[in-house]
Amino acid sequence: MKKSGGALKIVLGVLLVVTLLAGGVYAFVQQKAYNKPGNPANTESVAQGKPLYARFCASCHGKNLEGQPDWDIQKEDGSFPAPPHDTSGHTWHHNDAFLFEYTKSGGRAVNPPGFVSEMPQFSEIMTDSEVWAVLAYIKSTWPEHIRVKQANR
Ligand code: HEC
Repeated sequence: MKKSGGALKIVLGVLLVVTLLAGGVYAFVQQKAYNKPGNPANTESVAQGKPLYARFCASCHGKNLEGQPDWDIQKEDGSFPAPPHDTSGHTWHHNDAFLFEYTKSGGRAVNPPGFVSEMPQFSEIMTDSEVWAVLAYIKSTWPEHIRVKQANR
C-alpha cells in the first residue's frame, strides 16, 4: 500500500512538472508572437499606429484606408494614385518585409530605376518601430482570414 502510494506521488509530481514546463514554453512562444513587429493583435502597437496613420498616410491612402479614386489606373505623368490599404487593395498581397521596406524607403527606392512613384520615404520621419506600428494598425482593420493569408505571404 505504502509503496504504491509513493509511486503515485512520483507520477503525479512528474506530471505536474511537465505541465508547468509546457505551460511556460507555451506562454513564452505566445509572448514572442505577440511582440512580433507589425502584429495586428498587439493592442499597444495598434493604438500607437492609428494616429500615425492619420497623420502621415491618410492624406493619400484615405482616412478610411480607401485609397484614391481609380488607384489602379496610371496617370499621365507615369505615376499611380495611392492604393487602398483596406482589403480592396493589394497591400495584403505583400509580406511584412515588403510593406516595411516600402514604407520606410519609399516607392522610388523599392522599384526599378525610372519608376515614377509618389509614395514618400518615411525613414527620417518615423522610427522603425513606428513604421511597424502603422502596419499593425492597417492590418488590424482586416478580417481574420485576410490577416492569416497575409501572414503566410
Ligand atoms: C503623398 C502620398 C502618399 C503618402 C503620404 C503615403 N503614401 Fe503610400 N503610396 C502612395 C502611392 C502613390 C503608392 C503607389 C505605389 C507607388 O507609387 O510607389 C503608395 C504605395 C504604398 C505601399 C505599397 C503598395 C501596397 O500595395 O500597399 C505601402 C505599403 C504604402 N504606400 C504605405 C504607406 C504608409 C504606411 C504611409 C504612411 C506612413 C504612406 N504609404 C503614405 C502615396 C502615398
